[in-house]
Amino acid sequence: MQMLLEERNKYIQSPLNYTGGKFKLLPQILPLLPRNIDIFVDLFCGGGNVGINIQSRKIIFNDINSNLVRLLETFRELGLAAFDLIDEIISEYGLSQSAKYGFEYYNTTGTKGLSVYNRNKYLKLRNDFNRAEIKDNKYYMMLYVLVVYAFNNQIRFNRNGEFNLPPGKRDFNAAIQEKLKRFIECPPWSNYEFSSCDFRHFDTSRLTKNSFVYLDPPYLITSAAYTDKGGWKSQDEKDLLKFLDCLNNKNIRFAMSNVLKCKGKENSILKDWLDRNSDIYNIINLTFNYNHASYHVKDKKSATEEVLIVNYKI
Ligand SMILES: C[S@@+](CC[C@H](N)C(=O)[O-])C[C@H]1O[C@@H](n2cnc3c(N)ncnc32)[C@H](O)[C@@H]1O
Repeated sequence: MQMLLEERNKYIQSPLNYTGGKFKLLPQILPLLPRNIDIFVDLFCGGGNVGINIQSRKIIFNDINSNLVRLLETFRELGLAAFDLIDEIISEYGLSQSAKYGFEYYNTTGTKGLSVYNRNKYLKLRNDFNRAEIKDNKYYMMLYVLVVYAFNNQIRFNRNGEFNLPPGKRDFNAAIQEKLKRFIECPPWSNYEFSSCDFRHFDTSRLTKNSFVYLDPPYLITSAAYTDKGGWKSQDEKDLLKFLDCLNNKNIRFAMSNVLKCKGKENSILKDWLDRNSDIYNIINLTFNYNHASYHVKDKKSATEEVLIVNYKI
């Protein structure tokens, strides 16, 4: 789905190119959220695309991935000084700097990319990061540099908690620098709180009827990089639906992103729960995407139905 340039500029984008990131869906999701929220919880925050575009007295970013949450927190702590640490790491490992020297200097082109030049340097950085014992600001900026130089700028850890992506085509180019600068400068960081726990352990006791919980969990019927570590199972889905029922019983409003159908599969746990509670929860269809291969034949079996499930009237 294409995003108009003016919409792209209207919203702040996470510097983490997260699988399942909601940046492109923001023009559809944000108008559906209520105004005047006292505490906004981005419970499965990932790169934080939703939370950073919300206006609220307090915004809590939570994710089970503590590296990710600490990385976001480190940007808050360092502010623009993050750039100094990033430059230091890039120089220390001898990684390419195409913004300064261009592609020819590295004997390549924009199309061919920089993975060949960066490979060994990147693997050394990845190895040092995975073996590091002290988790200081530099450690988290090493993680950010890895993401920038990684395949498709993705963030992914294996079962042992090691960053495991190969090098990608790009480096810390002008566009990525600009994205990071906007991300660090624009949002009201003083309103932010960071937490890293499983959603089942998230403390909802301070939330009131003026609070709001946004949930963007891994989708049961699609697979994504961040589910490497154990994956998202039927039991997680059932526990999540119980968690939503509890929020609703406490009169706390919520919106959950999800998909009901994808490539011929259906999320029957979610669908049954929605059918049983059709008088309480509303389903809003966001997009109807076709996967590339079947787009031309318009094979509806392979359609992905992105929905927003809410417990309030729009
Ligand atoms: C779809 S991503 C969120 C993307 C995010 N909305 C964005 O726009 O960048 C789902 C996130 O859920 C997190 N997650 C997975 N299992 C979790 C759990 N049990 N409790 C809390 N977070 C979890 C993953 O680490 C991942 O970051």
